[in-house]
Amino acid sequence: MGSLHNYLSIADLEHAARRRLPACVRGYICGGTEDGLSLAESRNHFHRLGFAPRGLRNVAQRSAAVTLWGQRYALPLGFAPTGFSAIVLRDCDAALARVAREEQLPFIISGASTVALERLQEENANRCWYQAYIPGDMQRIRPLLQRLKQAEIPVLVITIDTCVAANRENLQRLRFTVPFQFSTKLLLDGLMHPRWTCQVFLHTVLTEGIPRFANLAHSIGPAITEDPPHGFRGGRDQLDWDCISQIRELWGGKLVLKGVMHPDDARLAVAHGADAIIVSTHGGRQLVS
Ligand SMILES: Cc1cc2nc3c(=O)[nH]c(=O)nc-3n(C[C@H](O)[C@H](O)[C@H](O)COP(=O)(O)O)c2cc1C
Repeated sequence: MGSLHNYLSIADLEHAARRRLPACVRGYICGGTEDGLSLAESRNHFHRLGFAPRGLRNVAQRSAAVTLWGQRYALPLGFAPTGFSAIVLRDCDAALARVAREEQLPFIISGASTVALERLQEENANRCWYQAYIPGDMQRIRPLLQRLKQAEIPVLVITIDTCVAANRENLQRLRFTVPFQFSTKLLLDGLMHPRWTCQVFLHTVLTEGIPRFANLAHSIGPAITEDPPHGFRGGRDQLDWDCISQIRELWGGKLVLKGVMHPDDARLAVAHGADAIIVSTHGGRQLVS
């Protein structure tokens, strides 16, 4: 995409990416559930937020840095977890982890990412958090926690808003599925976007093979064109507060719940030992509206 200096805002980047990506990839990245009302409403909320700046405060010494749980971050911002980023850029998870290290920002490894968390942790030690998509089954959770401990992941983020699959109608129209399935529509889409086909799709497949579910469970899983053992979402509908209590007892690192949308759930999170919550609608990709 050329020098980043040519892109002055997120909107500039989005505009360029939309031109470059096939419709199905664009649909996965940019879409929300059903009519997209949650997505639009989440954006509108940001438009309604403002600042009330104060003057004459002598700000010659200024910094936006924050320290959280003993770790310094250059900004009170970080990289949210994004699954399947390999379909946008080859080795995308590793590139994000590197940028996060250079910029001293937290990077949350998605449970649906395709580069092994141990490698990402090497790219950005101490600032790599891990986001889990977990079932309500301690037999499967325990070995995953063991893997995270071994990799010295400091923060475990549990996403609580994906107990069932969202109804993403745009993806059904585009024939985009998880696990990925090739269709004539996808093939034609790829042909219309040769740069993406060569630089992302072919380059990835020819150098590394089909990306895998690298971090969904305690070990590297199958290619993203196959169903992982127990399915991609298997057992998530049984995840409950009792599991969170048990995880809290086993997990010595920081514990964050992501996807909290109700004040009572925020209180329950504190009562069950969470160190923090992420208030989130999953980017309007999960809530049904
Ligand atoms: C392409 C894409 C992939 C995402 N993958 C994940 C994921 O794997 N795990 C997760 O917890 N959230 C995922 N999200 C949600 C983001 O982490 C984040 O919550 C959202 O983009 C910002 O919306 P919010 O302000 O409602 O949180 C994804 C979002 C996008 C756009």
